Amino acid sequence: MKRIPTTVFSEWAATGRDERMAKGHEVAVNNMLEYALKDKKNFAFIDAGCGNGWVVRLVKALKGCLSSSGVDGAQMMIEKALSIDPTGVYHHANLSNWSPNKKVDIVHSMEVVYYLSDPEAFIANVYKDWLKKDGRLIVGLDFYKENAVSHSWPEDCGVSIMQLLPIAAWISFFNKVGFNNIQSWRVDKKENWAGTLVITGVK
Ligand SMILES: C[S@@+](CC[C@H](N)C(=O)[O-])C[C@H]1O[C@@H](n2cnc3c(N)ncnc32)[C@H](O)[C@@H]1O
Repeated sequence: MKRIPTTVFSEWAATGRDERMAKGHEVAVNNMLEYALKDKKNFAFIDAGCGNGWVVRLVKALKGCLSSSGVDGAQMMIEKALSIDPTGVYHHANLSNWSPNKKVDIVHSMEVVYYLSDPEAFIANVYKDWLKKDGRLIVGLDFYKENAVSHSWPEDCGVSIMQLLPIAAWISFFNKVGFNNIQSWRVDKKENWAGTLVITGVK
């Protein structure tokens, strides 16, 4: 039986699988942060779908970071984030209907957006209500049409909502909602692995 993503990921946090996942995402996330933070002097940052909050804490320690917070819909992920970092800012919320009180300069999201029932609506909402003018959204995706090895994941992981879309569709969402300077590339592409698809744009 398949379950909704946040239920599955709560269980992952409870069984320690979140830590292995974070390790697996490290190379792509470092690449994304390097790109998003270059030339940024002072910035406010949100990790959308932050899991156990490892990227929130990594970014919080960087020079020029004014604020770094995370949002995730899995209760146990947020509990784990707060147990590691009790003074940190971690929101337990559904990304499909949440917005921050204060707009930020960078919204980062690794391996999250295809779990949403309407990814385009989320990207539009980030553009409108999350980002300051000139702010950047950067997303990383391993589950997409051109990455054949990922196609079995909904069955393998028993997850009910996973949108399998081609690269062109993801880029078109960024275009349609109004992002400028859209760039996309793939990190760590190798045999039998099409790489982490990174897409970014500026408001
Ligand atoms: C593959 S994990 C990635 C976690 C983290 N970004 C990382 O790299 O370790 C996907 C995360 O997205 C969260 N998520 C999925 N759907 C969500 C939703 N509708 N609202 C909030 N969080 C959601 C899950 O709870 C999970 O923590």
